[in-house]
Amino acid sequence: MKTVVHATLLSMLAIALLAACSSELKDVDDLPADPVLLGPHGGEYANPESADFHAKDISQHLGWDITSCRTCHGVDYNGGYTGVSCNTSGCHVAAAGGPEACALCHGDVATNKIYPQWYSSHATHLEGGVTSSTTIPCSNCHTLPENYSDPVHIDKTTPGKAEVHFSNVLAATQTLGTTGTPTFNDADATCANVYCHGNFTNGNNKTVAWKGADQAKCGSCHGDETSGSGLPPAPHPQSDRYPNINDCSFCHRPAIDKDGNPDPATHVNGILDVFGTQRTDW
Ligand code: HEC
Ligand code: HEC
Ligand code: HEC
Ligand code: HEC
Ligand code: HEC
Repeated sequence: MKTVVHATLLSMLAIALLAACSSELKDVDDLPADPVLLGPHGGEYANPESADFHAKDISQHLGWDITSCRTCHGVDYNGGYTGVSCNTSGCHVAAAGGPEACALCHGDVATNKIYPQWYSSHATHLEGGVTSSTTIPCSNCHTLPENYSDPVHIDKTTPGKAEVHFSNVLAATQTLGTTGTPTFNDADATCANVYCHGNFTNGNNKTVAWKGADQAKCGSCHGDETSGSGLPPAPHPQSDRYPNINDCSFCHRPAIDKDGNPDPATHVNGILDVFGTQRTDW
């Protein structure tokens, strides 16, 4: 473990750090050799380019547990007895949550979005997509922690691996009076039995990959994915009985327009819009 630095050394270190700033020394190696002013960290701990950067240390060696930092840098991260505040680093801002800001580890600090950005799936579900403006809050797929230290948050046995728990009225919605049971397969990060992806009467009930490519093309959730036609199979009315069955708007307006563009506000919202009625029982 790290050693606690003696108070006298610390005060000298503070002076040395000031000197370091004013004379623009690059790192601890540039400090005067005598006395040797080494804190508990290596000299590259604040350098994002370095393999020793503290964020990498936290993710790779500490299992994302930053509570130990508070022991020396203070419960508010304002420096504690070290006098080295995290909140004046230029990266962490106390008012925004300091080092515990939700956007910091899995989000985008610039836009203050708190969800992971590396797959488009989070944005699509949280903010809506092209064919549906339905939004699904974090709490419908995860147990949402109240703060960083909430016991439901960082899992000590599998740190870095998010737990998925569905508690979603929409995802659990099914039709004909039954309730769907959406499931998440941890092994390959796929979701199954999700209402929105076709777990409804005459839908495709598709198993979808969270990290997969576009799962939103017509025919994916209902109809034929290969041809890209959204027309569900019989018993849905078929072309032999109607002149232009592909003009979905003939029977499904206002949920879809003449050009075949679904209205994002009424598409994938748990309600089938047909013949001017709103149905949940089909
Ligand atoms: C045992 C006490 C102690 C603990 C625990 C501790 N620190 Fe520090 N930290 C210090 C001291 C003292 C300094 C100033 C000396 C130095 O830079 O090594 C410091 C400096 C720093 C710096 C500035 C380094 C630089 O080169 O400018 C960063 C960044 C930092 N700590 C991050 C962290 C993080 C992140 C944690 C938790 C993972 C943490 N510290 C845990 C005592 C501690
Ligand atoms: C529609 C369901 C859904 C919603 C809504 C959702 N997530 Fe996720 N989240 C997932 C799935 C699925 C994974 C992938 C888990 C895996 O790979 O094992 C995941 C993974 C994560 C991860 C781990 C990093 C990763 O990409 O594997 C974090 C962190 C996370 N989510 C945070 C959030 C936050 C914060 C919100 C709300 C702002 C949110 N999620 C909303 C389904 C969702
Ligand atoms: C120091 C980094 C860090 C900070 C700060 C942080 N998280 Fe996380 N978060 C993680 C990690 C790592 C995971 C993967 C979780 C695991 O180990 O279970 C995660 C997972 C999540 C998940 C997915 C569900 C789960 O627990 O697995 C949600 C939701 C989430 N965080 C919300 C938040 C919120 C809200 C905040 C701010 C109050 C926040 N996080 C702050 C690192 C962080
Ligand atoms: C992510 C899955 C998904 C995709 C992709 C999808 N749909 Fe749907 N669609 C649904 C669901 C779920 C319903 C059931 C009704 C509801 O919840 O709005 C539906 C219903 C419909 C309806 C009936 C009217 C209504 O909204 O109630 C039409 C028409 C329709 N979709 C057309 C399309 C077209 C055209 C496309 C491609 C541009 C498409 N859908 C792509 C999930 C999807
Ligand atoms: C002639 C009228 C008509 C046209 C045109 C039509 N539908 Fe339908 N659609 C219906 C009816 C009626 C239902 C309800 C069926 C039931 O009660 O089971 C329905 C139901 C659906 C459903 C729910 C699943 C199902 O099969 O019950 C979807 C999705 C859907 N339609 C999509 C489409 C799409 C996409 C198009 C255009 C390619 C389209 N429909 C064109 C009459 C039509």
